Amino acid sequence: MKLKEQDFINTYRDISYPDKIDLSASAPSNIALVKYWGKHGMQLPMNPSVSFTLNQSRTNTTAHLSLLKLPSKTVEFQFFLDQKPRPDFEPKIAGFFEKIKVYAPFITAFHWQIYSQNTFPHSSGIASSASAFAALAKMIVDLEKQLFPSHKDDNYYKKKASFLARLGSGSASRSIAHPVMIWGKHPGIPDTSDLYAVAPDFELHPVFKNFRDSIILVEKGQKKVSSTAGHNLMAKHPFKAIRKQQAFLHALQMTQYLKSGDLDNFIKLTEAEALSLHALMMTSDPNYILIQPGTLKVIQLIRHLRQTLNLPVCFTLDAGANVHVLYPDKISDNLEKYLFSKLTYEIIHDYI
Ligand code: PMV
Repeated sequence: MKLKEQDFINTYRDISYPDKIDLSASAPSNIALVKYWGKHGMQLPMNPSVSFTLNQSRTNTTAHLSLLKLPSKTVEFQFFLDQKPRPDFEPKIAGFFEKIKVYAPFITAFHWQIYSQNTFPHSSGIASSASAFAALAKMIVDLEKQLFPSHKDDNYYKKKASFLARLGSGSASRSIAHPVMIWGKHPGIPDTSDLYAVAPDFELHPVFKNFRDSIILVEKGQKKVSSTAGHNLMAKHPFKAIRKQQAFLHALQMTQYLKSGDLDNFIKLTEAEALSLHALMMTSDPNYILIQPGTLKVIQLIRHLRQTLNLPVCFTLDAGANVHVLYPDKISDNLEKYLFSKLTYEIIHDYI
């Protein structure tokens, strides 16, 4: 069933809360095959996106909650990354809490001590915001389940976690379930919504079941231009209308290929999406370039391997220079021999 914004508002009042609660949650990162690029309103996507959920690259979060003597208007919290206090992260988290307060008003009753840890190196250039906000959102939904008796089912809570995660970071909405997630309303894809991501109503074809994503860290460290700035540039982008049209078509085609196991077209489309994303950056005003010479070198190598050895391998990119190499498990040895061992970059091997 499709849910509306009002369905996520928590209307319980005057509940007596426990003095202390401990929570924990873990959420994976995800890689978009069809990219979300451009947003409007309250973190609503300009177009639908389709992603693979990763397995090893995750954020694990625990929180110790203590009941406040007097209720607070804002959420009182402290944030620790790898056991160290990180006040520099707090404004972003405070902004998230502020946005979700109306859907989870009970969060202001407690002081939160939040401990977060990523399984991938922090400076690796892998975006941690998707897994981090998804873990926080899952924790808040768990708290709601604990505090309020309800007849709502698991499906509702998954959608609520995705809805809340979206308000932290758009792509986080897709880090809630696996192996494939779709975020954004599409007239041709059942049950899709701009408010939360859903798993498709079909089984992923076995061709993709043991799919791997090896992330080649061409450039480590912080992104030079934030995704938020990039999304905002889409509002007046000269190719906005055509990009929307393209993304709607690509989202539909991608779901068809994932269902039918059409690996050739999957490869073609995945690469086209990655290049479209970066072409949009290069043609926005102001324009900017995130790929590096190393990115192109890896892309050329992948294309060369496909042409010469007929290996079903392709690349995708997120908003940075790193290359995600996507391939079926059974060609891992070939890729090690002909690609990974030839590179000096650090590589994170993950799978969907
Ligand atoms: O969720 P954000 O605001 O970090 O944006 C993510 C944008 C891309 O990673 C480039 C594409 C996507 O769909 O994940």
